[in-house]
Amino acid sequence: MTDKRHHHHSRRAEFSSKFGVIMAAAGSAVGLGNIWKFPYITGVYGGAAFLFVYLAFIAAIGVPVMLSEFIIGRGARRNPFGAFRKLAPNSLWPFAGMMGIGAAFMILSYYGVVAGWSLEYIVRSLTDGFSGKSADELAADFTTFVESPVEPVIYQLLFMFMTGLIVFAGVKNGIEKGSKIMMPLLIFIVIILGIRSITLPGAGDGLKFFFKPDFSRLTWEGVLAALGHAFFSLSLGMGTLITYGSYISADTSLPRSAVQVSGLDTLISILAGLVIFPAVFAYGIEPGSGPGLVFITLPNVFVQMPGGYVFAILFFVLLTLAALTSAISILEVVVVYFHEELKIRRKVATVLATVVTGLLGVICSLSMGINKGQTFFGLNFFDLMDWISAYLLLPLGGLLITLFVGWRLGRRLVHAEISKGGHLSPAMLTVFMALIKIIAPIAIAIVFFKGINLL
Ligand code: TRP
Repeated sequence: MTDKRHHHHSRRAEFSSKFGVIMAAAGSAVGLGNIWKFPYITGVYGGAAFLFVYLAFIAAIGVPVMLSEFIIGRGARRNPFGAFRKLAPNSLWPFAGMMGIGAAFMILSYYGVVAGWSLEYIVRSLTDGFSGKSADELAADFTTFVESPVEPVIYQLLFMFMTGLIVFAGVKNGIEKGSKIMMPLLIFIVIILGIRSITLPGAGDGLKFFFKPDFSRLTWEGVLAALGHAFFSLSLGMGTLITYGSYISADTSLPRSAVQVSGLDTLISILAGLVIFPAVFAYGIEPGSGPGLVFITLPNVFVQMPGGYVFAILFFVLLTLAALTSAISILEVVVVYFHEELKIRRKVATVLATVVTGLLGVICSLSMGINKGQTFFGLNFFDLMDWISAYLLLPLGGLLITLFVGWRLGRRLVHAEISKGGHLSPAMLTVFMALIKIIAPIAIAIVFFKGINLL
């Protein structure tokens, strides 16, 4: 990428290959959502029953919404706000794009905090900080760390700095190249850890918890969480994949890309569950213990396994890198919006967006400890950002995206866009149109209203 000119119609970057598209989009999708959040909310909402609802949402809603975002993005080749404006001039649709920009700020603010924890755990594993400790001690260590006022803030800001640096460098060399290297490595490590975990004595109870559903434990709140997490994990509902879609070249099949990215993301979540739950039960940890689950459980595994010192380092390095490829994609949404709509130079926009999300992140981090008492609707600031974005803004954004592609763009435009570099049989196109025009919007609306107790 040597094109540094700032023309009014600057040439947009494009991913260089189909493999690059999959790795970049999967790099966005696969992140803390898969390895940190998915296991812990599966634990909170009762295990296998939650998993099955989640898988159903991925297939019936996630894949169609992802394809819809790709269609909007590649169709318009703009940032989310500009894309809606280009495809539906003089309408209210661009506000769906604006909502996404707001969601990006919220998500990135607490995402950076957790990624900062992961960064600190690299240092902790390098300095052999787990060895010789009991499960209780490892749990206490985590709590003490996240509640302290200085250390987690420093690591969070460091992570945001790294995120800003990569976005600063540009689309192709940062995002695409990095993802191509990190994603295969991540998959390899997760498989190795999964094998170790399911061969632990007592692992069977964890497998049962993860795969044998007890639907009586399922609540509407759990169903909303499954939907919200399907959006979160696939990076949907706020324009990330509209933005990445705008970098996909015309010879790439959008339906195939959507299926491959969703499949890869889901596979990694299941692998993460296979790493966490057997270990949780083997060491007698509460599966519903919340955000600390991964940071407490895995160190227990590392302490007990041969070569655990090395695997601990590798794991937290890769968790941080996975978080990084996702955080970049969130920041990129804000940056391209600032750049294309507000005509702020890309590099200035990057600094601006990084500083604002970094400062919001400080508030999130402090709300785990010294500001714990300050709550909104019973949630601290960290949980509030998580809740509003994952459970309100993303499903709402997804709803608007499906309605837009289904009703506003319509079958003919959809067909034209997905026929570039790909093919979808008329029957499959009909299924897709039915999903995004009717089934997904109704499902999202029901779950959404039930979940927030309005029905
Ligand atoms: N999908 C990422 C994860 O699972 C996080 C993420 C990146 C995201 N971009 C997003 C979440 C857009 C919601 C919307 O970690």
